[in-house]
Amino acid sequence: MRKKHYILAIIIYVSFWGVVHAAKGTYLSTVSDSPLSGGGTTVFNSSRDAFAKPAANLPTEDLRDFTFGNKMFNTKWVTAPASVTSLDGLGPSFNRMSCAACHFKDGRGRPPESANGPMKSMLVRLSISGMSPDGGPVPHPVYGDQLNDRGIHGVPAEGQAKISYTEVTGQYHDGTPYSLRKPTYTFTDMAFGELGGDVLFSPRVAPAVHGMGLLEAISEEQILAWADPEDRDGDGISGRPNYVWDIVHNKKSIGRYGWKANVATLQQQDAGAALGDIGITTSLFPDQNCPEKQTKCNAAPHGGTPEMSDEQLKKMNFYVSTLAVPARRNVDDPVVLMGANAFEKAGCVQCHKPRVKTGAYEISALSNQDIQPFTDLLLHDMGEGLADNRPDFEANGREWRTPPLWGIGLVKTVNKHTNFLHDGRARNLEEAILWHGGEAEASKDAFKTMSIEKRTALIEFLRSL
Ligand code: HEC
Ligand code: HEC
Repeated sequence: MRKKHYILAIIIYVSFWGVVHAAKGTYLSTVSDSPLSGGGTTVFNSSRDAFAKPAANLPTEDLRDFTFGNKMFNTKWVTAPASVTSLDGLGPSFNRMSCAACHFKDGRGRPPESANGPMKSMLVRLSISGMSPDGGPVPHPVYGDQLNDRGIHGVPAEGQAKISYTEVTGQYHDGTPYSLRKPTYTFTDMAFGELGGDVLFSPRVAPAVHGMGLLEAISEEQILAWADPEDRDGDGISGRPNYVWDIVHNKKSIGRYGWKANVATLQQQDAGAALGDIGITTSLFPDQNCPEKQTKCNAAPHGGTPEMSDEQLKKMNFYVSTLAVPARRNVDDPVVLMGANAFEKAGCVQCHKPRVKTGAYEISALSNQDIQPFTDLLLHDMGEGLADNRPDFEANGREWRTPPLWGIGLVKTVNKHTNFLHDGRARNLEEAILWHGGEAEASKDAFKTMSIEKRTALIEFLRSL
């Protein structure tokens, strides 16, 4: 008899445990209440250096490469010929002298603070209509694929892009008014003549670069499983991958990096940035970035072939790959929990995927990690308001890659601003949400109909990331 009671007690206890935990599961369902945004790589650091730390689980023997790569990322390249030949070759035309100039403290850039001021941590991609043989944008015949707003001594800067804003007002369901700023771009001091009426351009701020290797460690199968190009499940959201030319594998590969998932691998992103943003050649991109008509650019001395050695590129890439994701804060705060629930109910999780496990990856510290990236790495039509009307491989002029949201609550601490979205037009997190349209229209409307408490909680949740 006593034995029977004992067994019954165990059964009751086990089922009760199940009910409690199931209830907890449905409350937060997919959003995790673990602070470990980057799995085992997560660092508990919420200082100005929160994005600049090596993955917590990186073996000590790898820290030397990380430190060397850190130096490469922060190096100010100089004009060739210089006494330190390993770090010369800046330009001839360029945007900034180092990676860190735009990705300050491995964080994100912003538009100029003053009206019509110079761009310091953003750039403008250029093209004309049509498709290049590799399926990508056709570079502008005179200015190439990016406006280089600086030049070394004796080489003209290509020109300047200036932003001005107009305020567009709206209101929440409860009547609370808001105002969004819509950017307009003008091009001045163009050294080689007007851009012309058929130019397509896309202004983009530098994104933060923590957690980059983890994004590469998400398996292709997983990204494809998230995709729903025909919207078969009828939820109004039809994410699809971008396929871009992969110069290393000589084929089209899934794009993961850039605001339109326009680059396939981290190595190609880093080497592409070295050339496009600083004017530094690598074995991947060995030719100087000088369109034919720019004679002074073409005639300028270079800093070696290539200017950045394979060893330097490898270590810089290792550094960017292994930058840790900072831990979440205040995960147990009731307001944050309420916000997580609101984030989920509003359908934000359909694109900003809250949980995924990475696959096998060449850097074992990044393999098989439970991470909270809040991205599906897919392209979504975000409506006319955010459109740049410039196709980038298979992304059309209205599509953008869901950006990861991990660390977004620390941007204010690290970079001293809260400018969000691809061109930094949003002045805070609310504005970033209010610009959502297209496939995210319903999600935005859900946000607009929330009570002030829920909206505040949702923002507090984003700040906890
Ligand atoms: C002039 C500013 C600027 C400089 C300098 C710069 N970047 Fe960037 N970076 C950007 C912008 C803008 C993007 C987004 C590009 C796009 O959407 O095509 C970006 C994207 C990236 C990304 C991908 C981020 C993501 O979420 O997909 C990485 C990684 C990166 N840069 C690394 C580097 C490295 C390494 C260097 C130095 C060799 C560098 N960047 C120099 C502006 C800059
Ligand atoms: C249909 C997919 C989709 C849905 C649903 C969605 N987003 Fe986004 N989100 C995006 C894309 C794509 C961008 C980038 C748009 C751009 O930069 O122009 C973005 C940008 C953001 C940003 C700015 C990120 C940055 O790095 O600048 C925030 C914050 C954000 N979303 C929060 C939310 C919240 C909160 C919700 C729910 C109310 C939501 N999103 C719903 C796709 C989505």
